[in-house]
Amino acid sequence: MEISVSLLFLIITVVCNLFCNSLSDVICLESERTALLMFKNDLDDPSGRLSSWTGLDCCEWDGIICDVLTGHVRDIRIHNLGGKLSPSLINIKNLAHLDLSRNNFGGAQIPSFIGSLNYLQYLDLSESGFEGIIPHHIGNLSSLEYLNVGDHFGSKLIVTNMQWLSNLSSLKYLDMTGVNLSEPSDWLQVINNLHSLVDLRLSRCRLTLFTSIDVVDFTSLRVLDLSGNDFNSLVPYWIRSLGNLVHLDLSDCGFYNRIPFALQNMTKLEYLNLSSNNFNSTIPDWFSRFVDLEVLNIADNLIEGEIQGLLGNLTSLVSLDLSHNRLEGILPKSLANLCRLEEIYLSGNRFSGDIQVFQGCITKSLRFLYLGSNKFSGELPSNIGDFVKLKKLDIVDNNITGTLPEEFGQLQELEYFVASLNSLEGVVSEEHFRNLSRLKIFRANGNKFSFKPNRKWVPPFQLTGLSLRKWDLGPEFPLWIKHMRNLNYLSLAQTGIIDSIPAWFWNRTSKLSHLNLSSNQIYGQIPSLLNLGFDGNVGVDLKCNRISGPIPPISPNISILVLSSNLFSGSLRDFLCNDVVQENRLEILNLGNNRLSGEIPECWMKWPSMRVLRLEGNNLTGKIPSSIGFLTRLQSLHLRLNNLSGILPFSLQKCVDLLLLDLGRNNLTGKIPVWINKLSKLIVLNLRLNELSGNIPQELCHLNSIQTLDLAGNHLSGKIPRCFNNFSVMAGKQQASDHIYYSVEDTFGGVPDSQFLVLKGRFREYSSTLQLVMTLDLSDNVLSGSIPIEITRLIRLQALNLSRNSLNGNIPDSIADIGFLESLDISKSWLSGEIPQSISRLTFLSHLNLSYNNLTGRIPTGTQLQGFDTSSFIGNGLCGPPLSGKCDENEETLSTEDEEERDGSLLRGERFGVFLSVVLGFVFGFVGVVGPLILNISWRTTYFRLLNSIGNYIYYVLVKTFLR
Ligand SMILES: *[C@@H]1O[C@H](CO)[C@@H](O)[C@H](O)[C@H]1NC(C)=O
Ligand SMILES: *[C@@H]1O[C@H](CO)[C@@H](O)[C@H](O)[C@H]1NC(C)=O
Ligand SMILES: *[C@@H]1O[C@H](CO)[C@@H](O)[C@H](O)[C@H]1NC(C)=O
Ligand SMILES: *[C@@H]1O[C@H](CO)[C@@H](O)[C@H](O)[C@H]1NC(C)=O
Repeated sequence: MEISVSLLFLIITVVCNLFCNSLSDVICLESERTALLMFKNDLDDPSGRLSSWTGLDCCEWDGIICDVLTGHVRDIRIHNLGGKLSPSLINIKNLAHLDLSRNNFGGAQIPSFIGSLNYLQYLDLSESGFEGIIPHHIGNLSSLEYLNVGDHFGSKLIVTNMQWLSNLSSLKYLDMTGVNLSEPSDWLQVINNLHSLVDLRLSRCRLTLFTSIDVVDFTSLRVLDLSGNDFNSLVPYWIRSLGNLVHLDLSDCGFYNRIPFALQNMTKLEYLNLSSNNFNSTIPDWFSRFVDLEVLNIADNLIEGEIQGLLGNLTSLVSLDLSHNRLEGILPKSLANLCRLEEIYLSGNRFSGDIQVFQGCITKSLRFLYLGSNKFSGELPSNIGDFVKLKKLDIVDNNITGTLPEEFGQLQELEYFVASLNSLEGVVSEEHFRNLSRLKIFRANGNKFSFKPNRKWVPPFQLTGLSLRKWDLGPEFPLWIKHMRNLNYLSLAQTGIIDSIPAWFWNRTSKLSHLNLSSNQIYGQIPSLLNLGFDGNVGVDLKCNRISGPIPPISPNISILVLSSNLFSGSLRDFLCNDVVQENRLEILNLGNNRLSGEIPECWMKWPSMRVLRLEGNNLTGKIPSSIGFLTRLQSLHLRLNNLSGILPFSLQKCVDLLLLDLGRNNLTGKIPVWINKLSKLIVLNLRLNELSGNIPQELCHLNSIQTLDLAGNHLSGKIPRCFNNFSVMAGKQQASDHIYYSVEDTFGGVPDSQFLVLKGRFREYSSTLQLVMTLDLSDNVLSGSIPIEITRLIRLQALNLSRNSLNGNIPDSIADIGFLESLDISKSWLSGEIPQSISRLTFLSHLNLSYNNLTGRIPTGTQLQGFDTSSFIGNGLCGPPLSGKCDENEETLSTEDEEERDGSLLRGERFGVFLSVVLGFVFGFVGVVGPLILNISWRTTYFRLLNSIGNYIYYVLVKTFLR
């Protein structure tokens, strides 16, 4: 009886242990409960995630799982907490699973006591804010199967010696993403001993490949991620031993040459990422063996050739990314077999052929189709409505012709449509947007569409981005924009609007960051630009319209304001001295070519961020205000073509970042100040056509970087300083600034290829001289003395004009050292002696004027010199061809003053000047705004994203090496 009672009791206990635990009958062990409470105590838990950690049964607490049989805590999983990791965990002896990922342990070291948790099989410390050396004690966890210490957001963990890892012989999963493994050069040997490894992730570990290993024993490995390590080598040979891989990520590793043959045996691959390397082969035929491949990404390489043979067998493909390579040819018909394909990225290649290749079942599955910046042609398919899942369609910068099919209006999933820079045309109607209720971005710049919906049309969508540059929308301002409440980006430039801007429009601008209404015939006044944008960096471009009235007050969010070439009038005082706005962020202000008058007020202290200031071509009078000195970030200042008088303000010397200073065509008086040397970064200095007098100061020679110096048309006297050889860029002793920045307006979506942009841009006629314009113009002053030999040290000069001065003496023999000279004008002075024979060495010379001096003797022979017109030499005592007079007869050629020639040379100089200030003016402003963005990120991988964010708003900046 006694026995059977105890037996019964035993049975009940066992049964209960088996079945009742989950019903919370079993209380957890007191020692473990205490340990957990101590553990909790050291954690920060402001939001009460561990509020269930009370009561006796710790097995009931959130994040805790106990062993059903023994009641021991087996499993701890806590997230989103801070604080410290208490060593009390040691008392939880049977712990098998510890998941502390996604916490914030505030830069603490991983505690070594974790190495004493002998039963641990699963340890996840990822993204938990641990720093420092990973303790080798973890190597004691011989049962460990899963170890994750990775951090995708940047880890500060480090391993200096990997040996401890080799003890973890049960390890199946190892993730050390972001951990610094640059020191242990034996990482591969160590890992090669982990024979159970299935999944290995060593992304961004700063690994190196100094190893002689070429066979590895990774037969069990299914997943390998080595992305983001800068190996900068060939793909290592041992990769061929990984025939069972299902997932391989070698992106961004600096691998080069051909796509490795060794991949061909990995026929089980489902995911292959080789993007952002420098592979330059074609896509090998054996890719067609990857019949299970779902994701193929080889974007951002130098891969060439066609893809005809590639796709046929890849019927499992879901995502295909070949963008930004050098692929060409037409797309294979076999695309139609890829019935699972959802994403195609082919942007930035040279694919051609008809865009209608997308037929068959692919039309039903495609969600993302990116074809931008290729050479696709043909018309949009009339069955475009069959692409029932299409969310994003990008065909920017191709040669797509024809109209927009009405079926476009059936793409009810469509969110994003970018078709700028094609040759589409025709009439677009409300029908084209019928079901596009999800549309957010619509960009179709540069096509010849006409769109004039009914005035009562209410669009089914709420757009955030809209650009219709060059569409025919006018003459009325499009009324339907009234319904767009979330616009972030709007370009209606060049759309034939002949209207005033309706008042409701300004209630639709509170989320705008880009507004471009330029090149229309918008008239009327603008009451204010105060309600614009919700954070900084708003750009507004209303140039080339007929807007009148005063310059409106602006929101402090505006950083770029372009109102040039309008009819704005009145004084600048209200705008610049406005007290409403406290913190102006304006960096670029262009009010050029308006009808502004009055003095420039002393209010520049309110505009501390200004980098580019353009007020040229107005009717401004008075002095240049001394508060201009508060603009200490100014890089580009244009006051040309006004009626400014007085001297250059002393305070201007504080604008030490100035690269361009253009004060030409005013009535400025006084001397060129000696403090000009403070503006030592100047690349362009234009003081042309003012009333400046006195000597040219020696201090001017401190402008080492100067490339264009124009002091023509003043009353400067005295000798030309003998220190011009200090202009070290002109002298070829110093490189011109590393990069020059050309801006070409609104060539959004263009190929990042200099040639393309320069040719397409409006600076076409200058494209050959654009890169190296170096000019020195001192003409039309009263300079005396001889031509200093130091000027001939400026061997990079392309144009030199010293004409209409009172220079005497000989033309220095060394003039021929200025080997790049294309234009030389030293006419109308008192130069004497013979033309040096050396001048015939100036092989680039295309314009020469030596007329009206006292030169004598024979014109040197040299094919070039004889090719110039006689007017280049008349008014001297010269003889020989091209002049008709024979030398022996000692006859002077007669001629009258040739005003046309005089004007001709002036115009020529002026053209250089105008051109430079146009280019550099736009340009340097963007050095600050856009330049750093472009320079600091990888151009190739992000240019498209960047373009999307800068948009086609005003300027597309092209970075180009200045000197080849
Ligand atoms: C590929 O690049 C390697 C150097 O990385 C070069 O030697 C080879 O000629 C290139 N091949 C092609 C087809 O451009
Ligand atoms: C591919 O596998 C076959 C047989 O499995 C083997 O003979 C061949 O050497 C392997 N090729 C490579 C490049 O590893
Ligand atoms: C496509 O796959 C089939 C069978 O899977 C194979 O016989 C054929 O050779 C493959 N085609 C190519 C081009 O590799
Ligand atoms: C664009 O396509 C048309 C016809 O489709 C063709 O005639 C023209 O040459 C193409 N233009 C370019 C620049 O490829």
